[in-house]
Amino acid sequence: MVKMETAELETDLSLFKYDNLEQLPPRYRELEESERTARIEAALEELGDDVVVLGHNYQRREIVEHADFVGDSYQLSKEAAAADAEYVVFGGVTFMAESADIITDDDQTVILPSMEASCPMAGMAEALQVDSAWAEITAAAPDADIIPITYMNSYADLKAFCASQGGLVCTSSNAHRAFEWAFECGDKVLFLPDKHLGENTAHRLDMEDEIAEWDPWDPEGKDAAEVAESDIVLWDGYCQVHERFRADHIEEIREDHPDANVVVHPECRREVVEAADVVGSTSTICETVENADPGETWAIGTEIHLTNHLQRWHPEVEVLPLCGEACMDCNAMRQIDPNYLAWVLEELAEGRERNVIEVAPEEKELAAVALDRMLEI
Ligand code: 13P
Ligand code: SF4
Repeated sequence: MVKMETAELETDLSLFKYDNLEQLPPRYRELEESERTARIEAALEELGDDVVVLGHNYQRREIVEHADFVGDSYQLSKEAAAADAEYVVFGGVTFMAESADIITDDDQTVILPSMEASCPMAGMAEALQVDSAWAEITAAAPDADIIPITYMNSYADLKAFCASQGGLVCTSSNAHRAFEWAFECGDKVLFLPDKHLGENTAHRLDMEDEIAEWDPWDPEGKDAAEVAESDIVLWDGYCQVHERFRADHIEEIREDHPDANVVVHPECRREVVEAADVVGSTSTICETVENADPGETWAIGTEIHLTNHLQRWHPEVEVLPLCGEACMDCNAMRQIDPNYLAWVLEELAEGRERNVIEVAPEEKELAAVALDRMLEI
């Protein structure tokens, strides 16, 4: 591979799962938007059908504008597999690029433009940590058949772990089906890493009295007796963006805009989900606004870039951020800077692959089992 200029490392690489990922070369740092757009378009033109660019709903406008597909995390991986392009450039975070690598063919290469786009919630349940928690949890309930379920927002090694223990993956749209499936196969569920999605799902199934929480960082937050008595054990992870929404925000928006409807993501706290009119994944949020009548007002409880896109895409609807004052910006998603997109595409056009996400073969095979089980339910 040709040696090229890369930035002095400013980031502690030990924090990242992939040690092949590089930072932006300095000469890409100061590109003007017009020059950058022209260069991205030229590289895309040159690469033609060899590349597909995916943009998660939370990506910035400057990424989404260049994307062939915009959507939720799982939809995008399926688009990548269907598109058949040699290169999949994923505008999203590491766990999404991993999922794309798992479900695309072996001859497709997945690229994450920026190495720093790591979802903090996925990082709250590391496979090693889950391994040792699993030993404690299974010891606390020795006669129970415990089925681990991981939310899509988790790393491939955790998905592989769930498959190896008879469990599966779920998305925010099918978490309730995954729980039902798990209770057909076993007696208890361990749900990782998002406690709010877990709690919201337990409520949907009228099982809110069956919850025990497991805080792996706090010795007091692991109650073996509670685990033995409860059917649902929730890992104490959360999304720092969605956790900031409060029920007060919904009250305030309804006071200021009496006609406003409220749609929120199920990663929000229980009381926020209870107070909302509609709850669902980023695609459900998009569909809700798409299907709204002209003149309706919708307040959106999710990451701010999607709220802004929805207002641009549907000017006939009044779209409000649920929490106007606070900045609901996902720092991980924001790491996909358009300068990085220009860099990885120009490198590809020159025949060089940068920031390739390649899940280890053993993990890939098992993680695919966990994803396949989800598709079968
Ligand atoms: P979706 O799978 O609903 O797109 O959500 C991904 C995510 O990161 C939510 O915070
Ligand atoms: Fe992760 Fe939350 Fe960002 Fe989604 S919004 S990628 S869950 S930190």
